Amino acid sequence: MSQNRISTCVFPVAGFGSRFLPATKAVPKEMLPVVDKPLIQYGVEEAVAAGLTQCCFINGRHKQAIENHFDRNVELESSIQGSSKELLLDGVNQLMETCAFSSIRQLQANGLGHAIGCSEPAVGDNPFAVILPDDLCVNSHGPGVLAQMVELYEKFQCSIVAIEEVPSNQVSKYGVVDGDEIEEGIFRLHNMVEKPTVDEAPSNLAIIGRYILSPDIYQLIGDTKPGKSGEVQITDALMEQAREGRVIGYQFKGKRFDCGSVRGYVAATNYCFEQFYED
Ligand code: UTP
Repeated sequence: MSQNRISTCVFPVAGFGSRFLPATKAVPKEMLPVVDKPLIQYGVEEAVAAGLTQCCFINGRHKQAIENHFDRNVELESSIQGSSKELLLDGVNQLMETCAFSSIRQLQANGLGHAIGCSEPAVGDNPFAVILPDDLCVNSHGPGVLAQMVELYEKFQCSIVAIEEVPSNQVSKYGVVDGDEIEEGIFRLHNMVEKPTVDEAPSNLAIIGRYILSPDIYQLIGDTKPGKSGEVQITDALMEQAREGRVIGYQFKGKRFDCGSVRGYVAATNYCFEQFYED
């Protein structure tokens, strides 16, 4: 039976991070540090701050460092025991106490939709959240982006995607949406196009890496044929829900950095250093 409480956050992390080579040749993109924490830790912190307690990584075979980051490292811990360095692990240790972590292998990188589809055994017939950790989201003035979306879910009880205005010459990098603004910054979506040209784009509102999905998405992903670049796109599956008025686009409060690109990563690093770093 379907429940309404969202407890699981899915982290699709099986991509190759090829825009960030050579850094990502042996190190997962999600393990690149922004100041002193890997990107994935920011994502898990955001999920925990939204009240979620299960984290499921959809991972590839060369990226075990992500799972190891949320496990004990007994040798390291004993070598720093009793020193001030122990404090440096407090944040991640707290996440490990709050959350249960699991991972599922995506055997081939067949696209984001396919990766999300792989999470069904961990999620079952429940609504769930998705965070793409290379989109680093921060809100210095209130709740995190996922927490804002979980609150919105209470009201709408349907899929929700975080959206942001992007310059027209950037639309071809995103899923781009169109819909009716039913409240300020909240749209009931009726169209979405994956990586459109400027001419095809229905607007300049782009989907960024935060989703809440209702569980019928699994069936829809299963029915979705590979789209742009031969990959199964989540946008195509979501479009089926949008046709029935069951997808909300939410212009979130806060900032988003595309840390899959060098420019976004450097901007995130500068921002987080200024905002959060204490010597
Ligand atoms: P991206 O396209 O941004 O990530 O996918 P990528 O493939 O790692 O990066 P580039 O383009 O090669 O530089 C968005 C998210 O979806 C995950 C990625 O890990 C990333 O978090 N993903 C993508 C999967 O888990 N599996 C896939 O088959 C594709």
